Amino acid sequence: MNTENYEGMTAGKIREFEKRKEALMLMGGDEMIRKQHELGKLTARERLDLLFDNGSFQEVQLFTKHRSTLFGLDKKEIPADGVITGFGEVNGRVVFAAAQDFTCSGGSLGEMQAKKIWKVMDMAIAAGKPFVSLNDSGGARIQEGVPALEGYGGIFYRNTLASGYIPQITATMGPTAGGAVYSPALTDWIFMVKKSSYMCITGPDVIKAVIGEEVTTEALGGAVVHSTKSGVCHFATNDDQDCINKIRTLLSYLPDSCHSPLPLLPTSDTPDRECLELDEIIPDKPSKGYDMKKVILEIADNAEMMEPHAGWARNIIVAFIRIMGRPVGVIANNPSFGAGVLDVNASDKAARFIRFCDAFNIPLLTLADVPGYLPGTRQEWAGIITHGAKMLHAYSEATVPKLTVVIRKDYGGAYIGMCSKQLGADYVMAWPSAEIAVMGADGACNIVYRKEIQTAPDPAAKRKELASAYETQFNNPYFAAGLGIVDEIILPRETRKRVAFLLETFKEKKETRVTKKHNNIPL
Ligand code: HXC
Repeated sequence: MNTENYEGMTAGKIREFEKRKEALMLMGGDEMIRKQHELGKLTARERLDLLFDNGSFQEVQLFTKHRSTLFGLDKKEIPADGVITGFGEVNGRVVFAAAQDFTCSGGSLGEMQAKKIWKVMDMAIAAGKPFVSLNDSGGARIQEGVPALEGYGGIFYRNTLASGYIPQITATMGPTAGGAVYSPALTDWIFMVKKSSYMCITGPDVIKAVIGEEVTTEALGGAVVHSTKSGVCHFATNDDQDCINKIRTLLSYLPDSCHSPLPLLPTSDTPDRECLELDEIIPDKPSKGYDMKKVILEIADNAEMMEPHAGWARNIIVAFIRIMGRPVGVIANNPSFGAGVLDVNASDKAARFIRFCDAFNIPLLTLADVPGYLPGTRQEWAGIITHGAKMLHAYSEATVPKLTVVIRKDYGGAYIGMCSKQLGADYVMAWPSAEIAVMGADGACNIVYRKEIQTAPDPAAKRKELASAYETQFNNPYFAAGLGIVDEIILPRETRKRVAFLLETFKEKKETRVTKKHNNIPL
């Protein structure tokens, strides 16, 4: 239709609207988009196209403009103020999102960009739907000054209000420096893209000036570092596409909010499938490791799991699986790394995961094979007492269904820490290979029978004899089962079947606690 003759009338107004919209769709323009692509990065719009189901994204506040006049900003247009915000469907379910666009003034966050982000966060909270933030920004818009900092403050505040109410996911897909790192840190899950993203409180230049240390951005705060050394990043991904695919997968395990039902994924994997391989997975030699991930995959529907923190604190595994199509959070010691010992990082990793699952009504399955807490000055000085307590606190406060399977070793304080009956496990099972004791036989005999061993004609033979008696007493599940501390001894192959039936049984579990403002978890 020729609208030229209708300027000023409705058709002309529609044309003007379309023109204005079209211009904003280009964001920073072709040259900036080319630069972004050259860095191996996608634009905000391309990322949102990948995140949302085809054509479902609805943009919010496209026409927002900054109103700063300082340091040349009065002459600078920043399309959409450098961020695309809106909502749409991911796997057929509504999700809200904000995606910063580096092609527009480096995605820098000023007053109006922040207000756009606040708006979709407020909408996500009001609607009770997940919020995803795709970050790619030079940080606070320097020219704007304190309103930019206020902008971050409002985001942190909303991240905190939303915490435990709706799932919050951040993908760092470019730079994130200074205080800007704290919005990701306040959300539930952080994804990073290898090589193209970094997160740090202060960059290499400041570090060199203040403490004389030389480091590259990648070595300081790249995806690999944060997913292996610091634990800041839960998922290190290969590129933008991989990152967004993984966000979609994670969302498929999560409910919309703490008041929503868990998502169900129909499966043809039967709940009573026997896991024959598990009967042979435990090595005869007690000090030998095995692959705990195989145990988890055998139990899970279709051998599928999604593992956060796969490269950090590897002595413990946390993972989402499904059983009978319903999400389950698994916490399992990993005997292949440090014998599955509990240390500062493992405790933090597990405690945070347990609290996330509990907040969103995802039942917990604990698989225990733990020799104890890691001894030594490094751990004591790093605060293993406080960090270990987080796990005890997290398990004890969790009111979701809690099932525990003792696979092999379950010693000392770590036995309690791996969701023992007294931390509120609804049902504790043990494989015949389970060993539940205060400590290993040698250590126990050295303390309890020190004099007898020292004064024996052959101390080594005496220690062996006493250790063997100790092992006969405790290195099995029967003593604990005899006291009702283990509810059932099961064959390894029956694990999926038993877990599936118990999850179905406890599906409607409701537990009421004493009324208070909130717990005070040891931080
Ligand atoms: C305003 C910014 C900006 C910022 C980038 N730009 N960061 N504008 N405020 N913070 C603009 C640039 O001026 C440029 O604009 C465009 O974005 C692209 O930036 P380049 O520097 O050309 O890109 P590149 O070479 O890829 O370098 C990216 C960068 C660098 C490493 C992120 O831009 C940079 O160091 N930016 C500043 C980072 C920083 O110190 N931010 C403040 C952190 S403190 P034109 O117009 O030329 O396209 C902070 C506090 C938050 O964020 C506190 C919360 C509590």
